[in-house]
Amino acid sequence: MKLSGYLLIFGAACRAAAQLVNPNNNTFGNVFNFWTRNGDAWDLTRRNATNAITLPLAHPAGHVTIQPASSALVIIDMQNFFLHPDLGGDPLGRALVPTAIDMIHAFRANGMKVFWTNWGLTESDLLSMPPAFFRGFSSDGTSATSFGSDMGTIQGNISVGRKLMRGSWNAQPFGDLFDEQVEGVANGTDFYFNKNRLSGMWGTSTPMQTFLEENMITTLFFGGVNIDQCVWGTLLDSYYKGYDVILVDDISATTSPAAATGMVDFNAALNGWRANSTDILPTLM
Ligand SMILES: *[C@@H]1O[C@H](CO)[C@@H](O)[C@H](O)[C@H]1NC(C)=O
Ligand SMILES: *[C@@H]1O[C@H](CO)[C@@H](O)[C@H](O)[C@H]1NC(C)=O
Ligand SMILES: *[C@@H]1O[C@H](CO)[C@@H](O)[C@H](O)[C@H]1NC(C)=O
Ligand SMILES: *[C@@H]1O[C@H](CO)[C@@H](O)[C@H](O)[C@H]1NC(C)=O
Ligand SMILES: *[C@@H]1O[C@H](CO)[C@@H](O)[C@H](O)[C@H]1NC(C)=O
Repeated sequence: MKLSGYLLIFGAACRAAAQLVNPNNNTFGNVFNFWTRNGDAWDLTRRNATNAITLPLAHPAGHVTIQPASSALVIIDMQNFFLHPDLGGDPLGRALVPTAIDMIHAFRANGMKVFWTNWGLTESDLLSMPPAFFRGFSSDGTSATSFGSDMGTIQGNISVGRKLMRGSWNAQPFGDLFDEQVEGVANGTDFYFNKNRLSGMWGTSTPMQTFLEENMITTLFFGGVNIDQCVWGTLLDSYYKGYDVILVDDISATTSPAAATGMVDFNAALNGWRANSTDILPTLM
């Protein structure tokens, strides 16, 4: 963490001293990481009210007040590999792209960061990849077609690259999302994080987690594919590690049976909140 981070925590601890009294029993957490309840509404700003935004989430979720400087939209695995029609990608996932772009624009316009958290393997990731993962990503049941295998060419001249390897075409964001990502990263509103498991927040730390800590980001909105696999894995690890998690239904999809989404919907509402972009965009625009 940067020195400024420690100073902020010190300041927060001083300011939070009164917090410990908690006379109305409406503060949840500790002096460093807490929410405050006000009737049906939840304040996630951790006492930084500057530019705070209140999102009118539908009952029973209740209104949620967020601090834009501590909030991010996390777009997971909207990559050619999972979405491109020529690679057998998910049409449900492709259908989310326009809404995802609306959300990306709205988050940027309100000073909230956009994260692209995607598969992006290195050679050393391949050396330590467990067997279950190689099996799960095989195309023909043999290990020859799993992570790192050459996926050939499509449309005569697009070299698909090695499966989910960092920098390959198949690991790039799909369609218009690619231009959004490149421009957003160049402009400094967006940030790109490679991951080497379904979750972008697993283990001791990941590039995404390091960034969250260094930038004191606490509140994460999630969308992408698959809702029950990489989105869920990243959301759940984030929840385990103390971040606020908000699943955005209408920018998330899956190829799995409906019961898989049902499980995620049920548990995401317990771990944090669920919302649709329609609950969020009117406030941000
Ligand atoms: C807060 O909780 C404590 C412990 O249960 C209780 O004694 C106190 O009366 C509560 N305060 C309010 C304002 O409800
Ligand atoms: C409080 O929020 C403002 C505006 O969003 C931000 O610029 C500032 O850095 C935040 N302050 C702290 C202490 O996090
Ligand atoms: C690839 O092929 C398409 C037609 O299939 C053509 O329109 C496009 O210009 C080609 N691109 C390159 C880089 O050769
Ligand atoms: C990047 O910044 C330029 C100049 O401010 C702006 O026109 C463009 O819309 C921005 N692009 C994105 C993706 O934010
Ligand atoms: C989002 O919209 C869909 C379709 O209308 C609906 O089934 C779902 O319950 C909504 N989610 C939330 C959190 O309101």
